[in-house]
Amino acid sequence: MTTIAIVSALHEELAAVLDLMPDEQQQVVGGRTFWRGHLQGHDVVAVLSGIGKVAAATTAAVLIERFGVQRIVFTGVAGGLAPGVNVGDVVVARHFLQHDMDASPIFPRHEVPGYGRSRFDADAMLTAQLVRASEQVMRELPSRLGAEVMRAFGLEAPRCHQGLLISGDRFVSTTAESLALRDALPDALAVEMEGAAFAQVCHDYGVPLAVVRTISDRADDAAHVDFPRFLREVASRYSGAVIDALLAQR
Ligand code: ADE
Repeated sequence: MTTIAIVSALHEELAAVLDLMPDEQQQVVGGRTFWRGHLQGHDVVAVLSGIGKVAAATTAAVLIERFGVQRIVFTGVAGGLAPGVNVGDVVVARHFLQHDMDASPIFPRHEVPGYGRSRFDADAMLTAQLVRASEQVMRELPSRLGAEVMRAFGLEAPRCHQGLLISGDRFVSTTAESLALRDALPDALAVEMEGAAFAQVCHDYGVPLAVVRTISDRADDAAHVDFPRFLREVASRYSGAVIDALLAQR
């Protein structure tokens, strides 16, 4: 049987996944706790990614080298960049880019030296399954969250977007920086701090990757207020449900 890694960005999200695993056992490698167990009949390793690209790359390498995972699914939150990518929407990545990679003028801006490219792809099949699972959970959202939370976050009609997800070692919390990112990368849907690092390591090893991010803020001057509140009240409830729905697919 193949082993699937479930990677969460937040404690709340990992807790929601562990709640679904009846028999998990922990193992510490590289200062991280990995949880082995089963979910919907699959062999699963669940772990926190840590924050930022280095933590993410180490986590990905340990999952592949030490635990032999054959697929990786990542759930977390992100700041919306493109118009129409609103708080409460979901972005499923098709491609990844490190927005703070810049070895110019030796290499074009954003190109990862040695790879001849700036963009890395998500696995098409795993991503299609993750889109199906996300859309199912979004349909069920009103009954999961209740009308009051839905109204408070303006979640009346959440959407599932697919496209470019960009990563860098910065929490984007000014409108000026968000506009600069949109200017440099007009097709970027959302910004976070780990996805593109996972994508580079998965590319190196040929391991399929899919990433889903719930939009917690608009990466603007209000991001530092919206972000913690969203984590507390919404994000953790999305991830467990999406992973459950994904692994229930046959
Ligand atoms: N994750 C969630 N919101 C973010 C933001 N504004 N910048 C970077 N990572 C994020």
